[in-house]
Amino acid sequence: MKILAKEVLSDFEGARITRIEVKAVDLAQKALAGNFVILMVKEEGERIPLTIVSADRECGTITLIFQEIGFSTKLLGKLKVSDSLYSIMGPLGHATEIKNYGSVVLVAGGVGIAEIYPVAKTLKEAGNKIKVIMGARTKELLILENELKEVSDELFVTTDDGSYGIKGFTTNVLKEILDKERIDIIYAVGPIPMMEEVADLTRGYGVKTLVSLNSLMVDASGMCGCCRVNINGETKFACVDGPEFDAHSVDWDTLKKRNSVYVDKERHICNLNKL
Ligand SMILES: Cc1cc2nc3c(=O)[nH]c(=O)nc-3n(C[C@H](O)[C@H](O)[C@H](O)COP(=O)(O)OP(=O)(O)OC[C@H]3O[C@@H](n4cnc5c(N)ncnc54)[C@H](O)[C@@H]3O)c2cc1C
Ligand code: FES
Repeated sequence: MKILAKEVLSDFEGARITRIEVKAVDLAQKALAGNFVILMVKEEGERIPLTIVSADRECGTITLIFQEIGFSTKLLGKLKVSDSLYSIMGPLGHATEIKNYGSVVLVAGGVGIAEIYPVAKTLKEAGNKIKVIMGARTKELLILENELKEVSDELFVTTDDGSYGIKGFTTNVLKEILDKERIDIIYAVGPIPMMEEVADLTRGYGVKTLVSLNSLMVDASGMCGCCRVNINGETKFACVDGPEFDAHSVDWDTLKKRNSVYVDKERHICNLNKL
């Protein structure tokens, strides 16, 4: 669980995004696109769910990319090369169903770009025609553009402020594509409002759409109930039933409410610990 490499991919207005390579031999052998891990930085810390961005089976390493948004991810950001994580558990979650769908559009926003990369790469290897739309608030927050270019047939970059690529939201480009051609499946990962908007848009075109839900998680065993989501009126647990779900079946309002429950407490703990 030693950190073998560390690289800051973006550092803008406190929203630092970092890539780390971690020695985790068993995990690296089993990891598939769509899986995630739960790690702890230190014994008394929280558990952080992070997507496995890539796994090198020969070297026994996995790559994680994380944005420092709260106490635990800020602690993780303080670790240096050759430091060790307290614990790491995985691979968790159902892997993405990979098959030759035909024409696939992947929509990624913010740090969701890191989560879409393994899915895009594996779908490309399975023979799909891949279009990727990646978006961020501003140029400084864009990550993995070259990596995604390599695995896509067409790549569109959007920034909300127009500082790079196309000015506007990822969904503007998605709408243009849907108006022009038939798409077999859409896969979206990013901030909840973006995934919700993708779901609203694609419903009208009748295109199957999958999202990977970043619910709050604690034990990742389906026991604590923290990550519960309402799918088609039924309670599901993102850690064991997901994290991918049909976007048109997600109750977005309850998901938004649950994910913002700890906002104030988090600010408080970061201030107390001067992080
Ligand atoms: C399956 C899965 C895979 C994930 N993969 C990645 C990844 O590859 N890279 C990455 O940067 N992040 C990923 N996340 C999100 C990441 O786990 C959270 O950002 C992290 O747990 C925050 O921990 P924290 O202690 O720093 O902040 P917290 O104490 O958890 O919270 C800080 C603030 O962010 C909000 N928040 C916390 N977690 C989330 C969340 N999951 N979604 C929306 N708001 C949240 C809180 O309400 C609070 O306002 C993933 C989440 C899941 C469930
Ligand atoms: S995190 Fe506890 S049930 Fe999913």
